[in-house]
Amino acid sequence: MKHTIVTLKEAKEKGEKISMLTAYDYSTAKLVDAAGIDAILVGDSLGNVVLGYEDTISVTVEDMIHHCAAVARGAKEALIVCDMPFMSYQTSEYDAVVNAGRLMKEGRAQAVKLEGGAEFEGTIKKIVDASIPVCGHIGLTPQSINAFGGFKVQGRGLEAAQKLIEDAKAVERAGAFAVVLECVPSPLAKKITESLSIPTIGIGAGADCDGQVLVYQDMLGMFTDFKPKFVKHFAQIGDAMTEAFGAYDAQVKSGAFPAPEHGYGMDEAVIEKLY
Ligand code: KIV
Repeated sequence: MKHTIVTLKEAKEKGEKISMLTAYDYSTAKLVDAAGIDAILVGDSLGNVVLGYEDTISVTVEDMIHHCAAVARGAKEALIVCDMPFMSYQTSEYDAVVNAGRLMKEGRAQAVKLEGGAEFEGTIKKIVDASIPVCGHIGLTPQSINAFGGFKVQGRGLEAAQKLIEDAKAVERAGAFAVVLECVPSPLAKKITESLSIPTIGIGAGADCDGQVLVYQDMLGMFTDFKPKFVKHFAQIGDAMTEAFGAYDAQVKSGAFPAPEHGYGMDEAVIEKLY
């Protein structure tokens, strides 16, 4: 079944949880899709986990298009949501629509995601008016890391919690089809989820969100630079990869690989005629 913004909304109405994972390339997108994940986020976490930057600030629209197009070739059923990178929508509503359009036309995304609440209500509305579905993202918004002064849980105090509720409502009012809640205390995420008709997708926001999203390298134990509290390792693929790379290294050096069955034969008579 092809997942769309409509099927995600229906899932919330039926009380069914929504699964979302990141992917950044064709092979991973195929695997995520085959597992039955509802939505794939081509996140600007690409900057951290694929490109090795210390934050997401340097990620460009071209980076996102390049990786989203690869994901789109691999995923047939999951809804593909592509992140709008830093400064691709903050500069003007016009830039926001143009860049969202590029992610759809060139990256073959089916929706875009952007970080920010009430201050981006007009921007989200303009993109939605251009027939581009938008997912909001509030709470800890990594593109604002320099403004926040670090990765911190958001909305713990009364004023900050009230602001997050207002942000969520503004995103919904603007026409977003869903909103990511990142690093938000679980009881506040529950309250926001209950007060919206669009689905909330949590990451570090507790079990009462309508869905969950994780960065796939985090949940597979492949990214070891840091491990946020909300990450659970569902497998230790990082260790398995290092072990396999080590076995390859040892076999190449010992001559055990490649074995005869990994090579191609030819007529001996041809070899003998060579000079
Ligand atoms: O870029 C990303 O992967 C994200 C998720 C962490 C929600 O925005």
